[in-house]
Amino acid sequence: MDFNGKTVVVTGAASGIGLAAAQAFAAGGANVVISDVNTEAGKNAAEEIGKKGGEATFLFANVAARNDVRDLVSQTVEKYGALDIIVNNAGIAGEFQPFTSYSLEGWEKVVGINQTGVFFCMQEALKVMEKQGSGAIVNVASIAGLKAMNRASAYVASKHAVLGLTKVAAMEYARQNIRVNAVCPVFTRTPLFESMFEINPAFEEKLKRNIPMGRYGRPEDIANAILWLSHDDAEFITGVCLPIDGGMMA
Ligand SMILES: NC(=O)c1ccc[n+]([C@@H]2O[C@H](COP(=O)([O-])OP(=O)(O)OC[C@H]3O[C@@H](n4cnc5c(N)ncnc54)[C@H](O)[C@@H]3O)[C@@H](O)[C@H]2O)c1
Repeated sequence: MDFNGKTVVVTGAASGIGLAAAQAFAAGGANVVISDVNTEAGKNAAEEIGKKGGEATFLFANVAARNDVRDLVSQTVEKYGALDIIVNNAGIAGEFQPFTSYSLEGWEKVVGINQTGVFFCMQEALKVMEKQGSGAIVNVASIAGLKAMNRASAYVASKHAVLGLTKVAAMEYARQNIRVNAVCPVFTRTPLFESMFEINPAFEEKLKRNIPMGRYGRPEDIANAILWLSHDDAEFITGVCLPIDGGMMA
């Protein structure tokens, strides 16, 4: 897809879904800001894009820290002159514990990154997009934003919250040429996903049986939907929470 001249920020872009999206935006001609807390992997990702003729810069930002997010957005605008698209993808799975044993520390960590982090990024991006009179936001939620998952109270609550933020901002900015959408991926083969099965490999086979298409997601499956929702081709689409799940939600 053509993103020539567009400036895109992808959070959590050093790995997995964010990396696949960043690479695809760069292949489409965008100026891509790869943001992450993993500096080494983030810099490598930007370098690899550069070697293929794309335009990418790494900027460190912990999305749970408001000042980091402010700097991320202001440095992006300083460097490229605009912020056309932001993909709020950084997220963690956190601890898996029965409801009553879920620790406050674990709760605060997951909610701080997955929920408050998305809120900070949306706020800062919207301030710029409002002035520009245009923009597109894609939040990376999860099917855990649409349905429950055992022992993952903080993750499920934070992803439901991301869908709430998506819908509110979509309504508030619908008349300002700013679209806000979310993708809800099913289990997708990334380092985050693989870490879940280090604990229980048998679970991997069991879980797959719930996906009608009989396979897990690939980072590219999710990136394709993120790009389409960000593109002007989707200009009449806002406030949607799109499952990308091989039919699971059906
Ligand atoms: N993989 C799946 O099965 C799956 C399914 C549904 C939704 N998701 C969501 O997709 C998103 C990406 O996940 P992934 O599977 O690609 O994971 P991943 O672990 O491969 O990548 C996540 C990236 O986010 C970065 N990150 C973590 N905390 C951060 C912070 N505080 N600030 C900035 N960056 C931070 C990590 O360093 C990493 O590079 C997450 O929001 C996740 O919840 C993943």
